Amino acid sequence: MKNISVIGAGTMGNGIAHVFAQFGFDVTLVDISAEALDRAIQRIEKNMDRQVSKGILSEEDKAQAIGRIAKSQSIAEGVSNADLVVEAATENLDLKLKIFKDIDLNAPDHAILASNTSSISITKIASVTTRPEQVIGMHFMNPVPVMKLVEVIRGYATTDAVTETIFKLSKDLKKVPVEVNDYPGFVANRILMPMINEAIYSLYEGVAGVEEIDTVMKLGMAHPMGPLQLADFIGLDVCKSILEVLHDGFGNPKYAPCPLLVNMVTAGKLGAKSGEGFYKYT
Ligand code: CAA
Repeated sequence: MKNISVIGAGTMGNGIAHVFAQFGFDVTLVDISAEALDRAIQRIEKNMDRQVSKGILSEEDKAQAIGRIAKSQSIAEGVSNADLVVEAATENLDLKLKIFKDIDLNAPDHAILASNTSSISITKIASVTTRPEQVIGMHFMNPVPVMKLVEVIRGYATTDAVTETIFKLSKDLKKVPVEVNDYPGFVANRILMPMINEAIYSLYEGVAGVEEIDTVMKLGMAHPMGPLQLADFIGLDVCKSILEVLHDGFGNPKYAPCPLLVNMVTAGKLGAKSGEGFYKYT
């Protein structure tokens, strides 16, 4: 494993590119938008500056890591040399299927194709490729440079050898991999999203205010962020779409997104990224 291609230069994509480059891998970051690629490099530099100020990286480490990241606006070019491709595009099934077809066509035969999807079926993604046994979920948590977990999701056909390779690679990034099977929401979001939805219901039903709900969970359960602040951080549109995957996948009404969440997404209140969610951001 030497050459890693990361598809999508958003929050997760730039975080994933950051950690691979930090730990010595050559990274090609792929996005159709040149502007998104430039923004991602700036974001990685800023986040590496935090690590420099904490003594995690030296200025030289940072410069070398940044030097290991190449940019590309084309999947065909960006994956042509890859040992591993990590897809971190928008959480949209049709888009991911299209991207995976494209990656499969252009990546070397030996390449492992991973998705950072937070809830879409790995088996479904694998089914549009010619190498389903080499397709796997590699689900990083935001902020990627800080959070230790990689949820490793085995699709129906994923082999033991591919799973072991991804385990070893995650450990090389100083992360802790956990193996889970391919069911809606996997483990992380199957547990996290009902908690967030319940917090939104508590607000919707007038049980308590935003700050009160978050304070209960922060001080009562030692969560670093309250569930409403965390929902803003993840993105309310992302929370809604993951709940829909759980709802569709299990057919159980307990996963239906709270009407308040649906209304907020419809109104464009998507959390930190849109400037307003349960809190306001300047
Ligand atoms: N890159 C590098 N370092 C970063 C960083 C980044 N993007 N963001 C924060 N940090 C570092 C800071 O420099 C700081 O370092 P020290 O501890 O060494 O001082 C540390 O992380 C903590 O940051 P801050 O002091 O700025 O702020 P904080 O103490 O409030 O912590 C937080 C911020 C780490 C985000 C913390 O609030 C937290 O852990 N929140 C919960 C995050 C979480 O649950 N993530 C999972 C979301 S779900 C998901 O991602 C998957 C999904 O499918 C939806």
